[in-house]
Amino acid sequence: MSVIAVFNQKGGVGKTTTTLNLIAALARRGKFPLGIDLDPQAHLTLASGIRNLPSSETIYAFYSAQKPLSQIMRELPSGAHLIPAHMELFKIDSLYGRTPNITSALKIGLTQELLPDEMIPVLIDCSPMLGVLSLNAVFAAQRLLIPVSADYLSLQGVNRLDAALKVLEKPLGKRIERRIVITRFDSRRRLSYDIFDQLREHYGKDLCETRISETVSLAESPVHGQDVFTFAPHGQGAKDYNSLVEELLGKGFFNP
Ligand SMILES: Nc1ncnc2c1ncn2[C@@H]1O[C@H](COP(=O)(O)OP(=O)(O)OP(=O)(O)O)[C@@H](O)[C@H]1O
Ligand SMILES: [Mg+2]
Repeated sequence: MSVIAVFNQKGGVGKTTTTLNLIAALARRGKFPLGIDLDPQAHLTLASGIRNLPSSETIYAFYSAQKPLSQIMRELPSGAHLIPAHMELFKIDSLYGRTPNITSALKIGLTQELLPDEMIPVLIDCSPMLGVLSLNAVFAAQRLLIPVSADYLSLQGVNRLDAALKVLEKPLGKRIERRIVITRFDSRRRLSYDIFDQLREHYGKDLCETRISETVSLAESPVHGQDVFTFAPHGQGAKDYNSLVEELLGKGFFNP
């Protein structure tokens, strides 16, 4: 099992889009991925075509009633598995924020009762809030994948991102391996190239070569509850996420 937290405390940068399409791309390569929706907005759940679940069938029940993760997990049409989220996750901070060891709950849940199979990649879609849920994701993860969108404000947020990572890593006592991927890249805009160059200067080899373009298929596929490979298999979005998964596999990013 290799656990990757898809994290950025800035909203709308493509965390959910990246998780949705990477687990689909991994499933298409026979890698048996598991996606975990750890965001009270439940966007990954919705984008996967799952609606109107009671909270008892989501990861909320893992936190509130110690329901085993294996009983919450469900299979998606792509062959990937998903642990869905529910709006009630908003309560986790206030209800369980002071529970001892709450930050390790997901790590323990994953290692104790799920996936003894070492080859399974687990991708956690984080919420843009720094709280108990994000700490759970970072504690459970061996690596971070950080989408940064190709706009000026996102670049301004990079320092805040570094600061947020320091806060999350402090209780861990170590730096977590990471890759940064640029999203919403518009090849008609000079600004997109400038931002890519600045990210390369800042992150060096941690920045992925692959650039995820701004495309209609990536914006529209979640509306239909589909990943981009099902919705528009020949479009730029499918091409970009295929390139990203190849690059990450090539660099051993999903290795246990
Ligand atoms: N490459 C892209 N091209 C076009 N639209 C995109 C692209 N990536 C993301 N989007 C759209 O932008 C919006 C925000 O993306 P997404 O939900 O993936 O971001 P997020 O980081 O998960 O947001 P949040 O912080 O709220 O969880 C969504 O409507 C999504 O469909
Ligand atoms: Mg999201």
